Amino acid sequence: MGGRSFDHIFSMELLFMLMVLSFFCTELRLVSGDLGTATPYSPPYIPTRCFGTRPDQFPPMYLFVAVSEGLWDGGSACGRIYKIRCLSGPNMPCKGRATVEAKVVDFCRQSPCPSTIAMSTDAFAAISHNSSAPINIEYAQI
Ligand SMILES: *[C@@H]1O[C@H](CO)[C@@H](O)[C@H](O)[C@H]1NC(C)=O
Repeated sequence: MGGRSFDHIFSMELLFMLMVLSFFCTELRLVSGDLGTATPYSPPYIPTRCFGTRPDQFPPMYLFVAVSEGLWDGGSACGRIYKIRCLSGPNMPCKGRATVEAKVVDFCRQSPCPSTIAMSTDAFAAISHNSSAPINIEYAQI
């Protein structure tokens, strides 16, 4: 009898621990993201390789990016949305564990691209305090 209730309590604790563990695992993982780097890039943003001079190409809040060769996908990257999280950088520039969702509108203008993803100043500022420091990011297409 005593053994049975002990087992019961034990399995409840185990269940609770598994719930806590799975919560932290989903919290730490972005969306099975890849690792890379990001830098901000400045206006003029038009024309873009994706949408030329179309004025409606930029999403609200100007959250957009220009991607480097590895993500460009021969131009198929245009219009894709990436969820990006700042992981680290010099002097802890990340705004907590904030993420930003940004639309691909361009191919990185610099050759070679200074980072995996060049972000609009607004998109970059959404996740980092320091616009002059490159950051390490986790990113995933959504
Ligand atoms: C921003 O980053 C640059 C380059 O790493 C660094 O020199 C500067 O001190 C940083 N600014 C702040 C406020 O951390």
